[in-house]
Amino acid sequence: MYFIANWKMFGDIKSLNSINNVIKFSKLSKNKKFKLIYCPPYTLLNTFYKKIQNSKIILGAQNCHHEESSGPYTGSISSKMLKKIGVKYVIIGHSENRSTGETDDDINKKIKSSIKNNLNIIFCFGETLKQKRKKDTNRVLIRQISRALKGVKKKDRILFAYEPIWSIGTGLIPKSKDLSQTINFVKNKLKNNFRLKFPKVLYGGSVNSNNIQKLKEIKIIDGFLIGGASQKSKNFIDIVKKTFI
Ligand code: 13P
Repeated sequence: MYFIANWKMFGDIKSLNSINNVIKFSKLSKNKKFKLIYCPPYTLLNTFYKKIQNSKIILGAQNCHHEESSGPYTGSISSKMLKKIGVKYVIIGHSENRSTGETDDDINKKIKSSIKNNLNIIFCFGETLKQKRKKDTNRVLIRQISRALKGVKKKDRILFAYEPIWSIGTGLIPKSKDLSQTINFVKNKLKNNFRLKFPKVLYGGSVNSNNIQKLKEIKIIDGFLIGGASQKSKNFIDIVKKTFI
C-alpha cells in the first residue's frame, strides 16, 4: 500500500518538525506492507531529503517541467534536477495543474522525461462533477490515460492515482460501489489495453482518518494520495494505522 502526502502549496521550515513523528512511527512499525511518500513544495525538498535519511520515508515532488534536463524556462524545475537532489517520485497531471493550462500533451512529455531520469511517477486523472453526472467517467478516464501513456515504454514506473475532481478538498468521496467499479475498470484497461501486468491504482480526494475505514474495504485500491489530511502528522499516521487494523 502506498500512502502519499501531497502538501500542495503549504508548509514551511517549521512544518518539517511534524515529520519527526512520522519518522518515529515508520521506524517502530513492524508492518512492511506500506510505503510512505512525501511530496512537499520545491522549497522544502532539499531540507526534507536531509531529514528523512535513514528513515522509511521516500521523497517526491509535486510537478516538473517537460524538458528533461535544463533550458530557458523561468520558474521551472526539470525531472533531472529533482533526481539529483534525491527525489524518487513526481506527481504529474494533477487536476490543479490541468486547470491552469497543463495539457494531455504536456503530461505525456513530463512522464517521458521523468522516466528518462529514472523517476517514478504518480500520474493523476479524474472526472469533473459534470462528466460524472453525464455518466461519462469511464470515457474521460480512458482518454486521459491513453493520451498520457502515448509512446511511454517503462509504464511499470507509474502509479495511477484516480482523483475525481469533485472530491478534492470538498470532503466528498465516491460511493464505495462506484469507486470499486471505477478502480476495477481502470485496472482492467491497464492490463488489457496497456499490457501492464500488475498496475497499481490509488485513490485520492478528501481521504481522512474517518473515511479511511470505509475506503480500506475496497481491497483493490493500492494506496491513497492525501492532500489536506497529510499536513498534520497525527492525521497522516492515523490513516496509515487504521488501514491495517
Ligand atoms: P485532499 O485530500 O485535500 O482532498 O486533496 C487530494 C489531492 O488533491 C491529493 O493530490
